[in-house]
Amino acid sequence: MTVWSRDDSHLPAALRGLRLPMVAAPLFIISVPELVIAQCKAGIVGSFPALNAREGEGEHPLLDTWLTQITEELDRHNQANPDRPAAPFAVNQIVHRSNVRLDRDLEICVRHKVPIWITSLGARVEVNEAAHSCGGIVLHDIINNTFAKKAIDKGADGLVAVAAGAGGHAGAQSPFALVREIRQWFDGPLLLSGAIATGAALLAARAAGADFGYVGSPFIATHEANAQPGYKQMIVESGAEDIVTSSLFTGVSGNYLKPSITAAGLDPDDLPSADASSMNFGSGSSKPKAWKEIWGAGQGIGAVDELTDTASFVARIESEYLAAGRSLAAEFTG
Ligand SMILES: Cc1cc2nc3c(=O)[nH]c(=O)nc-3n(C[C@H](O)[C@H](O)[C@H](O)COP(=O)(O)O)c2cc1C
Repeated sequence: MTVWSRDDSHLPAALRGLRLPMVAAPLFIISVPELVIAQCKAGIVGSFPALNAREGEGEHPLLDTWLTQITEELDRHNQANPDRPAAPFAVNQIVHRSNVRLDRDLEICVRHKVPIWITSLGARVEVNEAAHSCGGIVLHDIINNTFAKKAIDKGADGLVAVAAGAGGHAGAQSPFALVREIRQWFDGPLLLSGAIATGAALLAARAAGADFGYVGSPFIATHEANAQPGYKQMIVESGAEDIVTSSLFTGVSGNYLKPSITAAGLDPDDLPSADASSMNFGSGSSKPKAWKEIWGAGQGIGAVDELTDTASFVARIESEYLAAGRSLAAEFTG
């Protein structure tokens, strides 16, 4: 039963007809095919970083295997459930000079005709051209209006505005300021991230002017996420006050769980900073310690109070979204 309807005809085909205006954000280490497939089957765009697929020396590229697995599984689902088809999936490319796998990964994604490409840490014309060559669209991750303009100038189709409070490499700007500045000149696909963990927050993102909410941290506390049990539990038990912002672990400012920093023997309230030159996404050497022992999360996790499966989490967001929409709409009648 459709209980809300939306004119999404202005959006690229890959982003139309979703169950909710929601895209699951790519999470380093955590987003694996099981999670992506569950997200897409639940009717929202699922995603993973290409760098999560790491094969051993001399082995067949795991990215190729994962893309085959995801595509085949979603095709099977669509044939069995023509009335509720899966949403498309997205692959995240870290476009940074230290990502030595980038060219190979682009070639694999073109071959698999990946429908949605999410690019981070650098906008490059060649990457956008590669995506377009196979019919894909590119959504580029930005933290301010200047980077947003550069990304569109270089050929990205849409933007992911990463505002304050987001997990991973968060921005510092208020979501209201960031969306407003971008919407002054850009009417294409705009996703907003930063602590969106409830249906009401998703509605707020739409009201602010974004087409979609981009949700990351809550998925860490799902059964399908590739995270240690202690990490999932820490997400359930923590809130916004337990998040600290630091550049120490990757060279770029990011948000992390304080208890994981304490557990690693550091003082979360007295961390030195690091400079961007220490960033390294090279194959097999991307300082895994930063994400394996020092756990990332955004400020929205106060809303996550149970470990659940992805389908149930998306169903909860949907019912909250509808309730929040109806309640606000009631203020405008008459
Ligand atoms: C543990 C963790 C790992 C992340 N890894 C990536 C990544 O590999 N690539 C990327 O573009 N963004 C990454 N992000 C950022 C998310 O894609 C997204 O922007 C963010 O989680 C949204 O904010 P939220 O967590 O408050 O929902 C990561 C975030 C977290 C929490």
